[in-house]
Amino acid sequence: MFDETPISDLTAIVFTRSPPSLKVLNQLLLPHKTIYETVSNVKEGYEQIKEMKVRGAPAIGIVAALSLAIDLLLQSSNQTNLIFKDQETLKSYIKASLEYLKTSRPTAVNLFRASDILWNITEKETDVNMIIERIIEEAERMLIDDVQDNKNIGNFGAEFILKENQDKKIGVVTHCNTGSLATAGYGTALGIIRSLYFQNRLSHAYFTETRPYNQGARLTAYELIHDKIPTIIVGADRVASNGDTANKIGTYQLAITANYHNIMFIVAAPSTSIDLNIKSGKEIIIEERAEDEVTNVTGIVKNINGGELKSTKVRLPPEGVKVWNPSFDVTPAKLITAIVTEKGVITKKDGTNEFNLFDFLT
Ligand code: MRU
Repeated sequence: MFDETPISDLTAIVFTRSPPSLKVLNQLLLPHKTIYETVSNVKEGYEQIKEMKVRGAPAIGIVAALSLAIDLLLQSSNQTNLIFKDQETLKSYIKASLEYLKTSRPTAVNLFRASDILWNITEKETDVNMIIERIIEEAERMLIDDVQDNKNIGNFGAEFILKENQDKKIGVVTHCNTGSLATAGYGTALGIIRSLYFQNRLSHAYFTETRPYNQGARLTAYELIHDKIPTIIVGADRVASNGDTANKIGTYQLAITANYHNIMFIVAAPSTSIDLNIKSGKEIIIEERAEDEVTNVTGIVKNINGGELKSTKVRLPPEGVKVWNPSFDVTPAKLITAIVTEKGVITKKDGTNEFNLFDFLT
């Protein structure tokens, strides 16, 4: 179901409990159209994530959790529904839903973490109504807490950068989109850029282009123009315990460039993007997507009769070209100056090439 009324151009996820409603901004249509799509169940939530209408690690985890919450909320108005028969039936419904949601995109760890948190509720609570209530509460809490976490990342990151650059205005390069659209609001790497800007310490924000949907030109440019912001900080989809970081393809290239030019290379990520279960980036599964997402670009053209904007797909490479479309790459910890989380800034111990995120977070 589509709703063209703008809520806020930069709010990707809108959830209300009463009336029960979950709306997700279709980011594939930005910046030309602001259309929110209604999600009423787990399947619709899965599709939003798989098709990348919502994308960005924190947003993916939150939408997955909220799609289970809205599913249960809407179904619980009909108490005769069989899934609420007893605790075991409800638990198997929740298990199947979470397993299904987890198959939508494999790299961002936030999705798996959100799923574990919701599953743990079913292990702790015994009453059917209480399980549903706690799942809704927890999913809602993820949406609310993420905004504050991002503001903390923004402030810690800006403080760290400014300490190294006294009295100067800072130019920052960022990659992909890590802003309000990729999170519940404010953003991670883009959150640091916002904080520098609000302190009047940003000279320029530069962004590079990313696959498969030109998230730089369409989404980051859209957010910067929206905030009237005229600066290399990147986000993360999964950070291993030693600091190796999976992020949008092209990040590793930027990290090498930064290293060569002696420029700070900072990763901004909430602790929900850190996977302490893996030792290094070698264990991160990299999502591979369809060929046509890189052979075709989608643009907007004016109908020759005037008025109406129409989206159109154009193929770039010649037929027959072979395509490999990994969505992410892994930047080794060695190339990262610092990792900024909502709990503070983590740097490497002097003389080592790795971070100890385990000690910092536990
Ligand atoms: O494929 P996407 O658009 O979901 O990839 C997004 C990124 O790689 C972001 O940099 C990352 O998820 C961090 S978002 C705060």
